[in-house]
Amino acid sequence: MKILITGGAGFIGSNFIFKQLRETHNSIINFDNMTYAGDISKFISIENNKNYTFITGDICNREVVAKTFTDFKPDSIIHFAAETHVDRSIEGPADFINTNIVGTSILLEESLKYYRQIDDEKRINFTFLHVSTDEVFGELSETGKFNEKTPYNPSSPYSASKASSDHLVRAWHKTFGLPVLITNCSNNYGPYQFPEKLIPLMIINAISNKALPVYGRGLNIRDWLFVEDHCDAIYKVLQEGKIGETYNIGGDCEKTNLEIVETICEILDDIKPNPNRKTYKDQITFVKDRPGHDFRYAMEITKITHTLGWQPLESFETGILKTINWYLDNQEWVKRIVSGEYVNWITQNYDNRK
Ligand code: NAD
Ligand code: TYD
Repeated sequence: MKILITGGAGFIGSNFIFKQLRETHNSIINFDNMTYAGDISKFISIENNKNYTFITGDICNREVVAKTFTDFKPDSIIHFAAETHVDRSIEGPADFINTNIVGTSILLEESLKYYRQIDDEKRINFTFLHVSTDEVFGELSETGKFNEKTPYNPSSPYSASKASSDHLVRAWHKTFGLPVLITNCSNNYGPYQFPEKLIPLMIINAISNKALPVYGRGLNIRDWLFVEDHCDAIYKVLQEGKIGETYNIGGDCEKTNLEIVETICEILDDIKPNPNRKTYKDQITFVKDRPGHDFRYAMEITKITHTLGWQPLESFETGILKTINWYLDNQEWVKRIVSGEYVNWITQNYDNRK
């Protein structure tokens, strides 16, 4: 199978590509415009792999998208490309509206044109899989979980833009007959996550002797899933999902932010003790809360487990240890990725928040 991946230079997309090249004979076309979150230096080891091609392109650029379909004639498309950081969406929503909404609509239009003109054999199997988030459902209180029928109620510009893109994808199916699948997943963690998100930020700040900024009182809850489990779920849905349907994906692993940060500190105390401190927990600093901060996310995953037989394989205990070790072993990558525009952004924004 030839799969066109958008946003493959980011966190989840790159884990998906590595896994595909390791475990399948599929060929991958990685289409990414390399925003601050994109990094292709990580692909050096697969540069000469005949099953891997990288195309620099923006999903908002109709001509480049159309040419990519014509040149590569993919069998399916998995759409990861997005602006993804909630805090950035609060500082500047425009890029989120542009990429997540306008970009997705362009991708849908060009996919439909392509789908209508490919030969029958290819058309039967063509699928547009849209990768989305649990944040489209808004926030939960202490109890209950999101399922596939939960009404959309997004809070941030990020989640509102992802919700819009989900609606567009469904509209292209209902109105134009484009064969689509949608996955909504909970918070991911693992190798290659950009260190603006909670888990990598805390690991990097801890070992750099910096403050560990916990928003509010650290009591907000997220449902955590190891990235490779998410990649397996996406591939399973691509292969066996029912066209037009949505699948919720999650780790069945709810933790408060403070629990996460304290766990990271405890593991680091154990495997990389800081000679100047008793514990990394001393670096925890409670900072101003995020505006509109969703209290709790939790995914009910009965549909995907019962109908497709997927379930998370990695426990949080093993996944977080693997992730911390990966960041300790890949500090060159971290240095490279944080040396760009991100440094200016974080300096400005963290200083304002304190
Ligand atoms: P990321 O921010 O790490 O990577 C996004 C990638 O998209 C980058 O490589 C970037 O260069 C690329 N990109 C951005 N705008 C583009 C454009 N206009 N054209 C082409 N490429 C563009 O994101 P991620 O964490 O890997 O998330 C991937 C997808 O999964 C997103 O759609 C996100 O909403 C969804 N998701 C993420 C999580 C999570 O916890 N990270 C959870 C559920 C769903
Ligand atoms: P994040 O990784 O940004 O993911 P999302 O907002 O998409 O869930 O944040 C995860 C949680 O951690 C969220 O409740 C906000 C909180 N958080 C902090 O407390 N401090 C931080 O520095 C960051 C980045 C996030």
